[in-house]
Amino acid sequence: MEDSCCQLSTISPFLLLIFLSTITTLAEAQLTGVNYGMNGDNLPPPDQVISHCKFKNIKNLRLFDPNPAVLQALHGSGITVILGTLNQDVQPLGTDANFAKTWVATNVLPHTTSVTFRYITVGNEVIPGDIATGQFLLPAMQNLQTAITAAGLSIPVTTVIPTGVLGVSFPPSQSVFSVTSLPIMGPIISFLAAKETPLLVNVYPFFAYSGNPKDVSLEYALFTATKPPVIDGKLSYMNLFDAIVDAVYSAMEKVEGGGAVGLVVSETGWPSGGGAVGASVENALMYNKNVVAHSKSNAGTPKRPGKELDVYVFALFNEDQKPAGTEQNFGLFYPNLTQVYHVDF
Ligand SMILES: *[C@@H]1O[C@H](CO)[C@@H](O)[C@H](O)[C@H]1NC(C)=O
Repeated sequence: MEDSCCQLSTISPFLLLIFLSTITTLAEAQLTGVNYGMNGDNLPPPDQVISHCKFKNIKNLRLFDPNPAVLQALHGSGITVILGTLNQDVQPLGTDANFAKTWVATNVLPHTTSVTFRYITVGNEVIPGDIATGQFLLPAMQNLQTAITAAGLSIPVTTVIPTGVLGVSFPPSQSVFSVTSLPIMGPIISFLAAKETPLLVNVYPFFAYSGNPKDVSLEYALFTATKPPVIDGKLSYMNLFDAIVDAVYSAMEKVEGGGAVGLVVSETGWPSGGGAVGASVENALMYNKNVVAHSKSNAGTPKRPGKELDVYVFALFNEDQKPAGTEQNFGLFYPNLTQVYHVDF
């Protein structure tokens, strides 16, 4: 507000109230998007994909890497972008400020006048699988943020974690980062708190259900439970998605400054086939329809009611170069652009 056109003191308290409540509404508006994964040898060309997204009212996309043809196709589309770096670039980004500068010059600067970048994300699910590379996540975020700022841009830089970084995740209030993840997550969360930037997390009730269908009810996983299957102190959980998100909030709260850090659900989804328990078109439709509606309802979660929580569905397409079986069946669309099932965005 540094170049404010009007002194607040000259506005009547009544107008001020309307003004402030408008700002609040804008700030709290949830956003739903889709992950544009490209691990397929039969996917349509990017310009066709972007036209298709516009036609389907998909206004926000997440990219796993700065694919030049996709970024070009996004020009003027009005679609916002979360732009990721490859995991193999995390270490060079963290150790070499010039690499970060070149990354921004190559992948971001040519597009900033025609594409809205919401976040730049360093790596995808680097930890807990690769703790050695994980050491470079925060330096990479710092180098990229410095390069972004030096280029005169203001795009927040963050990273994407899986819920595998949690050591304890149930009940949600007892959640903590694992012993191996905490030394990496702690400083990252302090960085995000200082920048007022959210952490991105991939949330998959499907895997919790499919791996343990005896203890996790399908209704709880699909948002169709009629009474709360989980009660945690004063909070009742009607769906597993909220319980997982709140477990991440709880773990963050136990880290210095973490109570103020927000979350974006960078991936969530349900497979329509592939053989795993619960993988079916009916369940995928139910889950994705309900998670999008849940996001649009602005409900937040039991722990953070009404708090902004953007949600990105995984994924746009069934991808035939992912591991065989269930992993190839998370798409909303077949590669020929026919829908696998219908979800409104
Ligand atoms: C699109 O692909 C799916 C899956 O291969 C197939 O079932 C469907 O018939 C195709 N639709 C068209 C219009 O080709």
